[in-house]
Amino acid sequence: MKINGTHYRSIWPIGQDAFGIIDQTRLPHEFVTLTIRTAEQAAHAITSMQTRGAPLIGAVGAYGLALAVRGDASDDAIQKMVEMLAHTRPTAINLKWALWRMRGALLNQPRDKRAALAWKEAALIADEDVAMSQAIGKNGLAIIRDLAARKKRKLNILTHCNAGWLATVDYGTALAPIYLAHDAGIDLHVWVDETRPRNQGASLTAFELGSHGVAHTILADNAGGHYMQHGQVDMVIVGTDRVTANGDVANKIGTYLKALAAKDNGVPFYVALPSSTIDWTIADGADIPIEERSQDEVLKMPGRLPDGSVTVVEIAAPGSGAANPGFDVTPARLVTGLITERGTCAATPEGLRGLFPEE
Ligand code: MRU
Repeated sequence: MKINGTHYRSIWPIGQDAFGIIDQTRLPHEFVTLTIRTAEQAAHAITSMQTRGAPLIGAVGAYGLALAVRGDASDDAIQKMVEMLAHTRPTAINLKWALWRMRGALLNQPRDKRAALAWKEAALIADEDVAMSQAIGKNGLAIIRDLAARKKRKLNILTHCNAGWLATVDYGTALAPIYLAHDAGIDLHVWVDETRPRNQGASLTAFELGSHGVAHTILADNAGGHYMQHGQVDMVIVGTDRVTANGDVANKIGTYLKALAAKDNGVPFYVALPSSTIDWTIADGADIPIEERSQDEVLKMPGRLPDGSVTVVEIAAPGSGAANPGFDVTPARLVTGLITERGTCAATPEGLRGLFPEE
């Protein structure tokens, strides 16, 4: 993805002993990159949300482990680092998927080869994520093209949170088809849910779409249902942090309410995901661990002052507490289709197994 004419991925290797990320807590007001040199710094970047989005934290976890292996490549150290990194965020399965894959690639190998192997495997995970996002884009484009041909007017697509290139290594999941449709000349406009409490929609998705020249409007989270009732949403596309074997979908808090409103109004509700987001070990969404985050995210809000400085303000009465579940589960019955790198399927066990028979 291009920022001011320069191509960026959201994570990049620096030699073989560091990697770079974009500090997403500073966007959209400042574009700042960070150099990560240790697994502990990688863990901090994930917990502090400097880096975020299910596929991206998988790649960050993989590179973080690769950094640790340079210092100590013993079985014991690898096991401890995998556990430390896996605990940084509980809901997105991509993180564990990447760490378990790294561990599997390393443990049976000679110790003196593990550091180089780990770096290679992390790079492979990142490159594969880019390829999966590109394929998701193409598969989602077919759906948008079909809808545009039927509607014969500008399409309005609603999305929640940020499932663009900032949440993956490049291109995105939910936003990849939107970028391709825009590039193909399909007339479209995106409703961007602000996505309280952390505002990933307002601060990240709007930033991405604006940088790519895609027409968009930020909505308060509560407004989407209203626009659906008035025929102003043709389709919803969101990303996901974990899909269970029956097609239930965990995604950023508030996704479920959008799916309910979409169902009530006959608006197709699609979920875009790479196969690294599917948790085949869980039968349904009730067993997905939901991250409970700091109440400060609800009680306070960051923003830019007229003098250009960025600050945090309190928005609630002093003394009030807040609850802050990071994700919710949308039942499969509310999902029109799952857009994956292998194609689009029904959100059912049969649909998923049809695309991924080896699982
Ligand atoms: O808490 P976040 O910002 O990491 O949550 C991100 C989301 O919920 C995204 O929709 C999801 O990771 C899909 S990313 C392509």
